[in-house]
Amino acid sequence: MKIVMIQDKFFDPSRVDDIYFDRGLYFGDGVYEVLRSYKGKIFALDDHLARFERSMKEISILGLDINKVRERVEGAFAKAAIPDAKIYFHVTRGSGPRGHSWDDEMKPNFFLTVSELDDSSEIKEKGVAVSLYPDLRWKRCDIKSLNLLANVLANQDAVKKGCFEAILVNDDGYITEGSSSAFFSINDGKLITTPLAKNILPSITRKYVLKAAKTIGLEVIEKLLRPEEVKAFEETFIGVTTRDIVPVVEFDGVTIGNGMVGKLTKSFIDTFEIFTS
Ligand code: PDD
Repeated sequence: MKIVMIQDKFFDPSRVDDIYFDRGLYFGDGVYEVLRSYKGKIFALDDHLARFERSMKEISILGLDINKVRERVEGAFAKAAIPDAKIYFHVTRGSGPRGHSWDDEMKPNFFLTVSELDDSSEIKEKGVAVSLYPDLRWKRCDIKSLNLLANVLANQDAVKKGCFEAILVNDDGYITEGSSSAFFSINDGKLITTPLAKNILPSITRKYVLKAAKTIGLEVIEKLLRPEEVKAFEETFIGVTTRDIVPVVEFDGVTIGNGMVGKLTKSFIDTFEIFTS
């Protein structure tokens, strides 16, 4: 390599920080996790670490020990001293010359942030509107990959439409999940959600929502739904670590139920609170 240019400036390649040659930047070649804490305690750390370890294994990033990750997460969380924190971290395969294949000896790059969580109280009380967007993603959405272009485009489209989230619809006309959330509906006293497969992320919130369904005494049906079915349903909500349960009161321009947070959705929010306290 002879020249590096960053914005308008030339640099001697040997003096450029390695992070500019990160495969995460070149290829999105890495995986990530998002966790949160409630009142000073990290929620579901073991679940997130297990998913992270699996994501790494699925894309053959083998040079980072999961116990080391746990140490870093716990250490950074303690240092930040934020009781209700969002913890983001990712690992990329490493830095090197741009080439699609990699050298197994490559040293992974780890990056982590701890920040204040956005306040969710208003959206939990009032619910949100969601829009629809085609699911343009690859065929391994079960891996929490840094490649999020399709998710980013979907979410930006939702925001432009005044919505909180984009619900993704696959080529066969079925809902998979949200651009950054799991998707749930309630009808006839049953909770309905997408079955776990390679086309969705095994959401940690989803796991605890299913546990909450048991506590509440609601039957769970795992099946694919079409948007038209959901429009006629009584209640619907999305689930994501940073906000746990967010009621959906408007779906693709159609009011769900009476436009207010449904009774069962409220039960899920209350039950989740028990899990996190
Ligand atoms: N997103 N589905 C997708 C595509 C997601 O990106 C996420 C989370 C979820 C919910 O997963 P969990 O319950 O484990 O948070 C489902 C994270 C928070 C993000 O990308 O910021």
